[in-house]
This record gives sequence, structure tokens and C-alpha cells, in this order.
Amino acid sequence: MHLLVTGGAGFIGSNFVRLALQHLPDARVIVLDALTYAGNLSTLNDVSSNPHFRFYPGKIQDPVVVEGIIKAEGITHIVNFAAESHNDRSILHAGSFIETDVLGVYVLLEATRKFKLERMLHVSTDEVYGSIDEGHFTEQSPIEPNTPYSASKAGGDLQIRAHVKAFGTPALITRGGNTYGPYQFPEKLIPFFVTRLMDGKKVPVYGEGNQVREWIHAMDHAGGVLHTLLHGEPGQVYNVGDVNERPNHEVVKILLEETGRDESLIKRIPDPRKGAHDKRYSMSADKLRGLGWAPTHPFEESLRATVRWYRDRQDWWRPLISTDDFQAFIARFYGPSLGEDL
Ligand code: TYD
Repeated sequence: MHLLVTGGAGFIGSNFVRLALQHLPDARVIVLDALTYAGNLSTLNDVSSNPHFRFYPGKIQDPVVVEGIIKAEGITHIVNFAAESHNDRSILHAGSFIETDVLGVYVLLEATRKFKLERMLHVSTDEVYGSIDEGHFTEQSPIEPNTPYSASKAGGDLQIRAHVKAFGTPALITRGGNTYGPYQFPEKLIPFFVTRLMDGKKVPVYGEGNQVREWIHAMDHAGGVLHTLLHGEPGQVYNVGDVNERPNHEVVKILLEETGRDESLIKRIPDPRKGAHDKRYSMSADKLRGLGWAPTHPFEESLRATVRWYRDRQDWWRPLISTDDFQAFIARFYGPSLGEDL
């Protein structure tokens, strides 16, 4: 297997690269990554000298780059993690989301068809289903995205569906839950709050913090993707979730405990997502479990271990939060509500 992992220098992608090199000893793992603010080569330091690994910089929406790598490396399979993925950024500016999450998927699909690749697995999100008050989304649930980000991911998913129908392209989709663990860029709830709490800064909870997210560890998510690549059926969708729902305030409580801080560092702010803030995500992953996959990371213990990872790996995240891009985003998005607590 000559595997092209797009977005492999990002959060879930880099965890997947480690897992693939471990579990597929005969495979070659080729990473293509645009190294945007959220993709960082230092994330792959520990695998960079592995002879089965190779890195290419570039964008998935560039067909010359994608086709060049497929030819040069004799690629047989693609797994696409490349995406713009932060809801709050998509509220400020959705253009880059359309480019990567919609146009990029189209380019990968066309290349899969042109070079007759064996498989293309597209990593999507439960957010394409929208919000659910009760019960769980299944792979048959309608697509009802509510943010520019989730709409862009849904756009990619629908192109896959159409390519499978129209051309018989051997593509399949995974839809993962909210993911936590090592190497997550510190703008998402968990690493954003952990890194701020470590510095004694206030953390901005949107509204009352009653929204519910279904959390899965990055290694479990990566394992679900690998399992789907090896055992899933082309044309199918597989949810990758851990049936582990928590309201935000409960997650924040664990983060406060593990960083040794108290509730005085919580600042409730008016919800910046307004009507686009999904209340609850919950999905059934029974279909993938039926293929023999199961997550293995218990939430609370693994969340605490994640906090300790951020404590130990300040060399990894401090350079990321000191960039002009990150500081400008934080100032623009949180400045009005955090004021002097920014
Ligand atoms: P996030 O990590 O951005 O993931 P997603 O939007 O994909 O669920 O947010 C998780 C939850 O945490 C979501 O309900 C919004 C909330 N949240 C805050 O309350 N404050 C924050 O600063 C952030 C980033 C998120």
C-alpha cells in the first residue's frame, strides 16, 4: 500500500500517520500538507526519519501537486484529513473553507478516478448532520449543517456521494466526533483552555456552557479511520464516535482541576456563534463497531493525560500561539468580549 495522507501534519492526521506506520509495516506513508497555521512539521518530528515516511508541502486543491505525487510515489490509496476545521474562524471568513474542504475534495476525487486508485477515504465530521436534541445520528440521518465550516465539509461529502454514483469511484467517508488528544492546535476548546489556564488567563465559555459534545480520543479516531480504510466498503459512510457525551461545563471543570486552577478563571461570554451554535452532537457508531472496531481510551483519564501532555510539550505549542496570525485571530474573535482579560 502506498498511502497518501493529506493533512498529515495536522492534529488527527498526524496521529493517523503514527498509527499507520506502526500497523502497516509494509506500507509507505506519504504526507501532503499545506502547513497552514494548523499544520506544523514539528508535529511529525518523531517519524521524519522513518524510511517508510515522506513529506511533501502543498495544497490538495492544486491538481498539479496532487497528480505529481501520485505519479512519483505510485500512490494506491488516499486518506484525506486536509481541512479548514475551526467553526469560529469560518464565522469570520468562510472562503478558505470552501477552497480546501470543497474544491480540495473535488481535486482528490478526480485524481482517484484518473489514476484508478484502489481507495479514497475522506475524513469528515458529525457536524454535517447538524444538532440533535434527543437520540443519535446514524449514517442515514439527513445532512443539515449550521455553520460555514460544517457546510463546507458537507459539500465535500456530497461530492463523494455523487462521484460514487456517477463514476463508481471507490471513495468512502468517515464522520468523527469532537476529537481531543496530543497535537491539537490551541484554538479548539480543550487545548485553548488548557494553554490559557496554564498561563493563569481567563477562559471564555460561550453562554452557560450547556452545549453537549461527543468526545473521542485522537488515537481512537485515527484507529477508526484506519479500520474503515482496511475493512469499510466503498460508497459507504461510517460514523467514528465513542458515545461519550459531555456538556462543555463538565469538560471545563476537569481542565480546571487538572491544571490546578479554580472557577474564578471562567468568564462566561455572550455566545459568539449565535444561531449557528449547535446544541448537541451525538451519533451511533454501531456500523463501524459491527466491523470489529472499538475505541479504547476512557474519557476522563485520557483527558487528564492530554492536559499533562500540554504541560510537558510547551516546546510544541508555545511557538504556535505566539504567531501574528494566532494573536490576530484571538484579538479579533475574543477581544470584544474578553476585554482586559484577553
Ligand atoms: P470547539 O472545540 O471549537 O469544537 P466544535 O465547534 O467543533 O464543537 O468547541 C467545542 C465547544 O466548546 C462548542 O460548544 C463551543 C465551545 N467553546 C467555548 O465555550 N469557548 C471557546 O473559546 C471555544 C473555542 C469553544
